[in-house]
Amino acid sequence: MATPTFTFANGDRMPALGLGTWKSAPGEVAAAVTEALKIGYRHIDCAPLYGNEAEIGEAIAEAIKSGLVKREELWITSKLWNNKHLPRDVRPALERTLADLRLDYLDLYLIHWPVALKPEIEFPTSGADFLGPEEAPIENTWAAMEETADAGLCRHIGVSNFNVHRFKQLLFASRVRPEVNQVESHPLLPQAMLLDFCRAAGIALTAYSPLGSPDRPARLQRGDDPPLRDAPEVLEVAGKHGISPAQVLLAWAVTRRTAAIPKSVNPERLKQNLEAASIRLDQEDMDKIGGMDQGYRFINGALWAMEGSPYTLDWLWKGQ
Ligand code: A2P
Repeated sequence: MATPTFTFANGDRMPALGLGTWKSAPGEVAAAVTEALKIGYRHIDCAPLYGNEAEIGEAIAEAIKSGLVKREELWITSKLWNNKHLPRDVRPALERTLADLRLDYLDLYLIHWPVALKPEIEFPTSGADFLGPEEAPIENTWAAMEETADAGLCRHIGVSNFNVHRFKQLLFASRVRPEVNQVESHPLLPQAMLLDFCRAAGIALTAYSPLGSPDRPARLQRGDDPPLRDAPEVLEVAGKHGISPAQVLLAWAVTRRTAAIPKSVNPERLKQNLEAASIRLDQEDMDKIGGMDQGYRFINGALWAMEGSPYTLDWLWKGQ
């Protein structure tokens, strides 16, 4: 079975299973992208923050040059980092990403977080490093995103880490609709309310950290994570179908009609993950895994809610 796709209003199709590149180190990401394209991945999720777009760009350019893929067969996503929210900074940020990825256009450009930092700050160390919602209104950032779409630099625009409130605020203010919301999602955080909202509004939801992001940086690790890949429910469904626990998590994501972007730099796991997109779980499996919801975030956004920040965790996540 081919990888399922989301079809957008203009007929473009986004494959439901993509390759995540967060935490894929320079030095290993090009080989992972090349291998992924060879075995059939057509969706690659990137961001300048991941520090590896130039190397991914080399791999994509080589794959196109060698005839392995055509540009129009690919779905390439990237994201606007938090310190580029001022309207004058949006297009240059996208142009830099395009230069690094060696592309003329992106398929999808997302606002990475609904949180703005001062232009000179990549990661905040104090509350003074932020721009509040009045200083960098998200509607103005969005208007600049719309202009990049008008200019043909990206075919679709969307957001990441937006809860229902943040998303509605943008939807009402938008001329060009946000078409995708990319958020953390896995059985410990199914995002049922957000998913219902997205479905009703015709917005695609892409699940990041679908495997629970066990390799996330130490600053984002907490000692008391509940089990995900080795949760009894997941192991049981894996045993029933003769598939791996990671495949259960990805099949679960695709069966509920979200996209998922698992990261791997390992050829065997890349293959396993892509194959999972063709596996459908039955209602019994979905119900069993549905019982794992704890509203648990591996990426909890605490950095954006540090003391003195204009943003709070409730503002970010409440009503999700
Ligand atoms: P590796 O890159 O060595 O394969 P997430 O996508 O949730 O951020 O999770 C990525 C992590 O999960 C990485 O540590 C990755 O390691 C690992 N991983 C990816 N695919 C699989 C798989 N099929 N089975 C086990 N671990 C996997």
